[in-house]
Parts: sequence; C-alpha cells; structure tokens
Amino acid sequence: MKLLHIFGTRPEAIKMAPVVRATEEAAGLESKVCITAQHREMLDQVLDFFEIRPDYDLNLMRPNQSLHELSARILTELQPVLDDYRPDFVLVHGDTSTTLMASLAAFYRKIPVAHVEAGLRTYDKYAPFPEEINRQLTGRLADVHFAPTPRAKANLETEKTPGDILVTGNTVIDSLLWSIKKLENYSDEEIEDLRRRLDFNKKIVLITGHRRENFGEGFQRITRAIRRLAETHPDVEWVYPVHLNPNVQDPVYSVLDGLSNVHLIAPLRYPAFVWLMDKSFMIITDSGGIQEEAPALGKPVLVMRETTERPEAVEAGTVKLVGTDPEKIISYTEELLSEGPLYRQMKRAHNPYGDGKAAERIKNYFLNLNNTP
Ligand code: UD1
Ligand code: UDP
Repeated sequence: MKLLHIFGTRPEAIKMAPVVRATEEAAGLESKVCITAQHREMLDQVLDFFEIRPDYDLNLMRPNQSLHELSARILTELQPVLDDYRPDFVLVHGDTSTTLMASLAAFYRKIPVAHVEAGLRTYDKYAPFPEEINRQLTGRLADVHFAPTPRAKANLETEKTPGDILVTGNTVIDSLLWSIKKLENYSDEEIEDLRRRLDFNKKIVLITGHRRENFGEGFQRITRAIRRLAETHPDVEWVYPVHLNPNVQDPVYSVLDGLSNVHLIAPLRYPAFVWLMDKSFMIITDSGGIQEEAPALGKPVLVMRETTERPEAVEAGTVKLVGTDPEKIISYTEELLSEGPLYRQMKRAHNPYGDGKAAERIKNYFLNLNNTP
C-alpha cells in the first residue's frame, strides 16, 4: 500500500514525524513525503531534527502570503505530485491551508484521505481563523479520521461523519516523549546559547503568539501586557521566540525590543524549545500544540484566546483561557508568579492528549487494511 504524507508547517511536521517514521519502517507499506513548504525555515528546522528527507518539496512559501494565493498554489502544485506517485492514501494533519488543500487535491483525484488529529472543534467559525473551518472541511473530505481524544471522536460522531473513526492519542505526545528522551544525552548550539543568555536562577516565563485572529489590536494588547509585566517584574526572565510572520514580528519587536529582561529570539528548533519549556516556570501562548505539550510537562499555561478546540487541559486545570485583555493577562500571570494555590493546581502534570503510541496505532490501521482481503 502506498502512502503519501503531505504537510507544510512547523506544527504539522512535528506531529507527522512519528507517523512518517512508523510507516516508513513498516513492511508492507510504502511511504513518501511531500512538503508544500507553506513554511520554509520553521519547517526545515523540524525536518532536520527528525531527519525527514522529503520526496517532493513544492517550496511554496512567499513573504507575507495571503490565504487565497497560498491555497491556490497548494492545490495546483499538488496535482502533478499525485499523478506521479499515485498513492493509495493521502495523509494530512490538523487544520492548516496545506491540510485542507491537500485533502481537496486528493479528493479531485478520488484518492482516499486519512486525517490525523481529526475532530477538534470550537464550532466558532472565526476562532481559530481559518483553522476551525479548515478542520471541519477536511473532516468532510476525509475517509479515515484519527481522533486524538474521545471527545474529538464524539464530535465527529455527532456530526455523522462518514468513514472510520479511531481514537489514537495525539502524535504530539509521541514527538514530545521521543525528544525528551533524546535530550538526556543531547545538546546543541541553541541550547548552549540559551544557557549563556538566560539567568536560570530566575523564573523563566516563556511566551509565543501567532494566531491570525490576534493580528492588529490583539497583538497590541498582548505586547502592552507583557511590557508592563516585564517592567514591574525585573526579577523574571521573559523569553519570546518570535514567529517569522511579519504580522507578528512587527508589533512584537516594536513594543518589546530593548527591555533588558525581555529576550526576543528567533524561533527555536524543536529540541531547544522542548528543553526551554521544561526549564520554564510558566507559559503564555496562543499556540495549539503548546497547549497539548505543556500539561505533559507540568507547566501552567495561560492561553491568549477566547475559546479553544482543546478543552481537555482547561477542564483538568493546567490551562486557563485569558484572551487578549491586558488586565487579565497581567493579573493571572502575577497570581501564578506568586506561587500560591493557583500555581500549585495548574502545575500538576497530566496527559489528556496521548500516551506516546499514537503513530503506532495509525500505522497498524494501514497494516490491518493491507491484510484485509
Ligand atoms: C500557519 C497556519 C496555522 C499554524 C501556524 C503554525 C494556516 C492558515 N495557518 O500560520 O494554522 O498554527 O502556521 O506556525 O495554514 N514565515 C517565514 N518563514 C517560515 C514561516 C513563516 O518567513 O518558516 C512568514 C512568511 O512571511 C509567511 C508568513 O510567515 O508568508 C505566514 O505564514 P503562513 O503559513 O501563511 O501563516 P502562519 O501564520 O505561519
Ligand atoms: N515550537 C518550536 N519552536 C518554537 C516555538 C514552538 O519548535 O520556537 C513548537 C512547539 O513545541 C509546538 C509547535 O512548535 O510543538 C507549535 O507550533 P505553532 O505554535 O507554530 O503552531 P500551532 O500549534 O499553534 O498550530
């Protein structure tokens, strides 16, 4: 059976790496990788660490690309790849432009689609934007749905989604556990650089943010809140690896550059980022993947969003939604910094998203199909 993994951004690559590895090693499965390179540098960092060598690289990223032009390019450029390799299944991940357009491209060739990380929902059309609708539409196009949690499966069932639905756990936990193990005997230039730059005797607050719905006003509020926190808490190290999107770079650098305890740094490779998460006191983010990783590491997370498609960790108490209201970001951060009952409750490590064996379950699904006459 021939599988084609198609992905394009940093988080898709991190979460598909274990699936690529598992299916490449399985006798009876032939597995190839096509990257749209919707991201370039941030994707290449991940490919390098996980030693993934793509069979097709569409190299599509353009500076400050629009959703329309990027989507059109992905759809057009995938046609010859599908015609060349003629896979039995296309595997896509999550909710990006690559996810939706690769699913559509496969559908136009009547090639079955398997959707990894299926069934997450906010049911709010514009949050996350455009990811909520990307994920819903991919669900309609897909023939097989690998749901990370029982709740994600229940969403698909409620929607009467056709096709097989399996709860696998989230492959992000496979990658996280693999990387933590690798970090036991591993260091690299980025980690050494962080050791030199940051004072680890102080509390480290790790920050990331890149969501489209926060562009403009949202980023103004977020950066204002962080600036005030940094000024009133000089004893804390505020570390922000800044996403390469110019809509993020511009507001972040213009408001936060030049403060001695605010470290604006380039996006980190995955091992250095995992290492830094583990060394952090708390995390402030709007990222999807980090909401899944941080609870496994026992790190409290404030999420700068009004709603989340990942409610499991919110319900378990390690993640709190604070939106982009500066007062709320500041008051919750200060409460956590005081190490009172809220911090103790939020730092309890637990893992609602997986057990590290998601990729194996996905591989076994295809092996079973192979063995079914
Ligand atoms: C995309 C995904 C989002 C995901 C995020 C992960 C869509 C619609 N959005 O958003 O779901 O959460 O990736 O980070 O698919 N850029 C670079 N180098 C890179 C990556 C990005 O310069 O390696 C810059 C480019 O100017 C590019 C811009 O960022 O045009 C936006 O990239 P894009 O993938 O369109 O959007 P993201 O905001 O990264
Ligand atoms: N990440 C990384 N380097 C960074 C910031 C994040 O490797 O500097 C990882 C993080 O551990 C997580 C993923 O990138 O696995 C999240 O990506 P992002 O926040 O860009 O996208 P989202 O998860 O919101 O789609």
